[in-house]
Amino acid sequence: MKKRSTFGSRFGTIVVVGGSVVGLGNIWRFPYIAGENGGAAFVFIYILISLMISVPIMLSEFAIGRSTKRNALRAFKKLSDGGWWHAVGYLGIATAFVILAFYCVIAGWTMEFIRESVAGSFIGSDSATIKANFDGFVASGWKPVVWAGVFVGLNTLIVMAGVEKGIERYNKILMPLMFLILLGLAINSVTLSGFADGVRFLWNPDFSKISLNVIMEALGQSFFSMSLGMGTMITYGSYINRRENMFRLAGTVAVSDVVVAILAGLAIFPAVFSFGISPTSGPELVFLTLPNIFAQMAGGYFISILFFLLLFSAAITSSVSLMEVVVAYACEEFRISRRMAAMMASATVAVLATLCAVSQMPDSALTVGGLNLFDFFNNVSSDYMLPIGAFMIVIFAGWKMSRQVFANELTNGATVGMRIYTVLRPMIRYVIPLVIAMLFLSGLGLLTL
Ligand code: PHE
Repeated sequence: MKKRSTFGSRFGTIVVVGGSVVGLGNIWRFPYIAGENGGAAFVFIYILISLMISVPIMLSEFAIGRSTKRNALRAFKKLSDGGWWHAVGYLGIATAFVILAFYCVIAGWTMEFIRESVAGSFIGSDSATIKANFDGFVASGWKPVVWAGVFVGLNTLIVMAGVEKGIERYNKILMPLMFLILLGLAINSVTLSGFADGVRFLWNPDFSKISLNVIMEALGQSFFSMSLGMGTMITYGSYINRRENMFRLAGTVAVSDVVVAILAGLAIFPAVFSFGISPTSGPELVFLTLPNIFAQMAGGYFISILFFLLLFSAAITSSVSLMEVVVAYACEEFRISRRMAAMMASATVAVLATLCAVSQMPDSALTVGGLNLFDFFNNVSSDYMLPIGAFMIVIFAGWKMSRQVFANELTNGATVGMRIYTVLRPMIRYVIPLVIAMLFLSGLGLLTL
């Protein structure tokens, strides 16, 4: 058998895993979900969940992946000697398609915004023009479809090139740059008239706003943002070097994820209040607020080009990790070439993404239960698919996988993080599955808390 890929270095590992985690989830999804769920109270719960619940889930996925060095489906088969556990792998593959379908549409938007930035169309525009422009773009139907197609194509090229030569090399340069620009934009917010309101919205929690719904949204958003509950971290885990300290890796990645999301919030909410945009604008929020800042800011022309380029980069380093789940599975299970697997997966994604983009046109008939297909995929993945997947993964890690293998894998043969492990084990076995199950059941109305 061909030697399996491994990430080349520690820095490489952090940026590739970080590249998957940091993406549209932080900069596009986090601000608008926070906006719709009341701001600071949501942010507070989100941070709590990310550190207490998501980090242990990430470690469970790493352990499953690295101990088997297999794709997300085969890993379950290998660790469970038959049975039906690999169904969790199938769920993961289905989730990857559902997420990619709308993810590629938003990533396509970032490319349109790169084009508009280069054309200088934001400079000097007022917020009404910016909004009209955006609505026209989405309503055209064909423009978002074309961009989504271009994005899927680029994705395919990177995945075809393989893990180390494609994904790793590219991430090393782009991730640090992304971080710096976002920091700059957040600092620039101080100059906006809505700065105080924006910060208050993000930081002064009104705890009476915390409802079951807010907690569920925070849970789903955290899983989405940390790429959990669908096998991405199992697949990437299978490429992690045996000597890597996975506690440190998961901790670093989780903190980066939260920090980037907060920075995005700091860049966006002051603008929301300065330019009279509603914090509940939904998926358009970032695409409406930031152009207003660029329109006014010194050097806005160049900064907007750079920003959307980086947003695009953040998107592509995440979308390849979604695609990799499918491709690793297809080429290992059906013994087809990586190239072939990538092309087949992309063709499927291209069709789904087209449907999602078209469903956003006004009066589109592509709806499921009153939501257009885009919103439906976007909601169903974070509200149901990822929490169910994550639940199954922790149950598997805590109850089904051999205790010895699990402990050895996380502690590198009892050489690192022994104390953390002692706390982690009961979290994974009892606390986390219970919390997810209780939230989930009460969300469905089957349990009253
Ligand atoms: N975490 C990515 C983001 O924040 C999205 C993603 C979800 C990637 C699930 C892989 C798996 O944009």
